[in-house]
Amino acid sequence: MSQTATQPIVAASDVDKTYRMGEIQVPVLRSVGLEIAEGRFVAIMGPSGSGKSTLLHVLSGLDAPDRGRVLLEGHDVYALKDRARTLLRRDRIGFVFQFFNLVPNLTVTENILLPAMIQGQDPSERPPELATLIERFRLTGQADRFPHQISGGEMQRVSIARALFSQPRIIMADEPTGNISSRAGQEVMELLRACRDERGQTILLVTHNPRDAAFADRVHFLKDGEIAAHTTLEDDAVNEARILDCLKELDV
Ligand SMILES: Nc1ncnc2c1ncn2[C@@H]1O[C@H](COP(=O)(O)OP(=O)(O)OP(=O)(O)O)[C@@H](O)[C@H]1O
Ligand SMILES: [Mg+2]
Repeated sequence: MSQTATQPIVAASDVDKTYRMGEIQVPVLRSVGLEIAEGRFVAIMGPSGSGKSTLLHVLSGLDAPDRGRVLLEGHDVYALKDRARTLLRRDRIGFVFQFFNLVPNLTVTENILLPAMIQGQDPSERPPELATLIERFRLTGQADRFPHQISGGEMQRVSIARALFSQPRIIMADEPTGNISSRAGQEVMELLRACRDERGQTILLVTHNPRDAAFADRVHFLKDGEIAAHTTLEDDAVNEARILDCLKELDV
């Protein structure tokens, strides 16, 4: 299927997901439907255990739902063969995680280059965009250090720089500010928003933090595995208050 201007870049319909552990079944997602237009910044909020990370994994092609369909750029993700699904995920999505997932024995620069290397780029090449990115993320002094030699905020900037370097159309971030200071978190959010504003990348953010969610255009609230509400945000000044209202109304 080819992509048209009106087609959402990510679409899920009727998604159910239950984890099975022997006899025990844990229903996590129930009839979840979601459409994300290209170039949007969307946040997913909800209490711990409400299924946010699971939803992100299902949307990204990492974890098949029991029922329902996920379309990424119009491709029916779970109808693809494993290899094609892996390639689609690899080429289209950049991931940012709470625990950074940097490779400990690679330097900052090498970590940023890693996805591009996996896509076949020669690691000895240092394209000019790399230097620009490192400077932009204020990592110039850290470029040749290893992850254990830099701060948490710096690690998170490295992981976002890595997610950006290969220019994926979609960035999925799961609690990217969970382990850094609020000031570093604000910077991370600004960088994510810049990706959307300057390059039109689509951002899908999972967060507990209303201040982070206020950077999004739209917030979906998950409760007991269902999308219980969503709100569209316009004006920054009122965003955080609106998000807090929604959370209160949903009793989460
Ligand atoms: N691999 C798994 N096997 C069994 N149960 C799982 C598995 N992964 C998650 N769960 C359960 O599914 C539910 C949803 O988990 P998920 O990680 O999606 O929640 P979350 O909203 O991201 O929570 P948090 O905010 O704490 O990260 C939880 O009850 C969790 O214990
Ligand atoms: Mg989670």
